[in-house]
Amino acid sequence: MKRIKGEIFLPGDKSISHRAVMLSSIAEGTTEIENFLFCEDCLATVNAFRQMGVRIIAERRAPRTANLRGRQNAERKIIVYGKGLRGLKKPDNPLYLGNSGTSMRLLAGILSGQNFSAKLEGDSSLSKRPMQRIIIPLKLMGADIKGKNGYPPLTIKGKKELKAIRYKIPVASAQVKSAILLAGLYAEGETEVTEIAKTRDHSERMLKLFGADIKTKGLKCRIKPSPLSSPGKIKIPGDISSAAFFIIGATILPGSHLVLKNVGLNPTRTGIIDVLKRMGGDIKTGNGERGTGNGKYNFMPAARNPLPATCFEPVGDIIVQASQLKGIEIKGKIIPRLIDEIPVLMVAACFAKGETRIKDIGELRKKEVDRIYSLCYNLKKMGAKIKEKEKEVIIKGVQSLKGERLNSFGDHRTAMALAIAGLKAEGRTIIENSDCIKTSFPDFRKKLNELTRITI
Ligand code: S3P
Repeated sequence: MKRIKGEIFLPGDKSISHRAVMLSSIAEGTTEIENFLFCEDCLATVNAFRQMGVRIIAERRAPRTANLRGRQNAERKIIVYGKGLRGLKKPDNPLYLGNSGTSMRLLAGILSGQNFSAKLEGDSSLSKRPMQRIIIPLKLMGADIKGKNGYPPLTIKGKKELKAIRYKIPVASAQVKSAILLAGLYAEGETEVTEIAKTRDHSERMLKLFGADIKTKGLKCRIKPSPLSSPGKIKIPGDISSAAFFIIGATILPGSHLVLKNVGLNPTRTGIIDVLKRMGGDIKTGNGERGTGNGKYNFMPAARNPLPATCFEPVGDIIVQASQLKGIEIKGKIIPRLIDEIPVLMVAACFAKGETRIKDIGELRKKEVDRIYSLCYNLKKMGAKIKEKEKEVIIKGVQSLKGERLNSFGDHRTAMALAIAGLKAEGRTIIENSDCIKTSFPDFRKKLNELTRITI
């Protein structure tokens, strides 16, 4: 019987890695970024800033004396030599951002405030993702930004100064919020955004860490133009979205016991833990790491962990034990807190007792692929009982799924969610187009093999 057993450190959070490169590039001073996520998406951001004259070096070799943990940290370090808010230079060529929506939308905010023009391009999936949601507010700020009927490529002509706006964001999107806040660094006056539901607040936390004049209260956030200065060192917490695949694997595979070390436990991202607990999952969190890079632990729950200057995000360990889940209804405010984990949550729901309904998930159709379709198509093929509606899925738990030939449709999270389903299925599962996993988690296969001691 397959099971997940062991203890692992995860690579850095993708959303936070992107922001760390962006803010370090437009800050004064040099920033060392530890546990940076070397995935295709984040490297697209690195390359874009290199093309705009920022020196970024990757340190992939650790000192010979380093222990395992020290080695992991050093091997995942980048150093960014900041240019300041006005120090970027016009790129000679279009900036190619591959599959990365975060790179494109956040960069659009930064580029709106530059005094040079640039073009942002992406792969065939990114070229189908809606950009009107950032074009509208950035234009209101005075940016000269054009898409192709609201889709990439984007052309942004430089402006000397933007104007501040007050804007209610009509979709729950951290990327849209972040694009406006980043443009706000270059705007005259105070920019204010109001969200319809709380989304990940990594931009706000990191802007604060870099000394920006930013205030948040509930669903509102205000920013005034201010120079950024590097905090010197940043340590990126492990990615809870990557952790989710193993958390759910360990939950549904009997006999599993898993410890995930130093995972980001930002409350805007922990919806998956709350939901799994409600479903009867045996999951514990705690032992937040204090500070960055000193390797010492305190034994406080992550939420109460005092945050010194370099520890801007709550971090902690997650301990998971296999358990029988039960079906529940999931909807409303919690959805943005687990938006990227819904594909693998759908896999968990297939093995829960009774019915699981996941509502208000229309945004999933606008991700790298239509993730409602990609999961329903494949899980149905494996024998799952799933009903798909425009903004909702209804899943009836089954005893088992059968191994099948599946297709990720080129989407990393679909591929990894299906790999977890495949572990629990009877017979062999083949996932076509699984190369896309390197978009967010190049080590996924290696980590899963370590934890299951089987080769996929
Ligand atoms: C992200 C925000 C979310 C998420 C994406 C990363 C970010 O997208 O799905 O993977 O880093 O801000 P939306 O802002 O489109 O919801």
